[in-house]
Amino acid sequence: DDTKAGVKGLVDSGIVEIPRIFIRPPHELAEELNMCKSTLQVPVVDLSGIEAEDRRKIIVDEIREVSEKLGLFQVINHGVPSSVLEGMIDGTRKFHEQDVKVKKEYYSSDPTTRRVRYDGNVHVYKTKGKTAHWKDTLYVAGLVSGHIEPEELPEVCRKEYVEYTNHVDKLGEILFGILSEGLGLKPDQLKATECAKEQGMACHYYPTCPQPELTLGTGKHTDPVFLTFILQNQIGGLQVMCDNQWADVEPIEHGLVVIIGDLLQILSNDKFVSATHRVVANKVAEPRISVIFFFSGVSTPPKMFGPIKELISEENPPLYKQVLVVDYVSNFLSKPLDKTSLDLVRL
Ligand code: SIN
Ligand code: FE2
Repeated sequence: DDTKAGVKGLVDSGIVEIPRIFIRPPHELAEELNMCKSTLQVPVVDLSGIEAEDRRKIIVDEIREVSEKLGLFQVINHGVPSSVLEGMIDGTRKFHEQDVKVKKEYYSSDPTTRRVRYDGNVHVYKTKGKTAHWKDTLYVAGLVSGHIEPEELPEVCRKEYVEYTNHVDKLGEILFGILSEGLGLKPDQLKATECAKEQGMACHYYPTCPQPELTLGTGKHTDPVFLTFILQNQIGGLQVMCDNQWADVEPIEHGLVVIIGDLLQILSNDKFVSATHRVVANKVAEPRISVIFFFSGVSTPPKMFGPIKELISEENPPLYKQVLVVDYVSNFLSKPLDKTSLDLVRL
């Protein structure tokens, strides 16, 4: 049926007005109109030379500073080959642009049913009474963590996804080391919490929207994970909240966006902040493509996460309860609209 053709299917059918379920509520639209746009330049961290000790110190300081203030930055010279990045974007485009008949085989609107799952995003939001988003998504469970085998991936993007995953897994290891040092811990201490062990991807396709001012590509949120990498093509639309204003995260060719998630804010006991971000609906004639790679922390066997012991003292009491990753994520999906998931676990 129509739902399975996704937002791309709607656009391909030639609609000029977006269906009601995509239209944001009046209070949100009004708030938006009264808001100033930030001119903040999102920091870009050059990772080249990271093997040298003095250079590493500088990188640690840069990343510490931005993780304390904004929780979002871009990295360049990160070691993932350009051909691998381009392959990943291209593979994602191919998946979403192939015949609906093929895409449908991967379709499910229920996140618990499949490890490789295509969703036109309409269903889930409709049934929950939230606004639907102007994008289609292919969700992929952890490859490195062995949750799926490469053969389960759609053929059009299989090779590219396996390659990209192997590279960003390594980059994750480097960044968790840097972030660990940024917190004043030993380089391997964050990793020792198993925060990087479970991983997943959301591969988005944002078709051109005929009424972009009425809807969003991705609504305002913080990520309910430890760390996120975003690979995007050159269309733009990602924004980060800074001092209650939205700032554009300008795409950098072959760069990657890094986002601190809620669970890392919890581990750091609020030393680092998770970034509030969103994606405005695409007005450009080309689709926006983005690949979200997230580190969500080990969940089997179930493991509790909370502020790291070494960061807690009499002057710095723990600000959060211990949480299970699964519970945290289900909070994220079901929380009241006026609360953040962090509020629900704050002591
Ligand atoms: C997200 O934050 O979930 C989406 C971000 C993006 O598409 O760039
Ligand atoms: Fe996000």
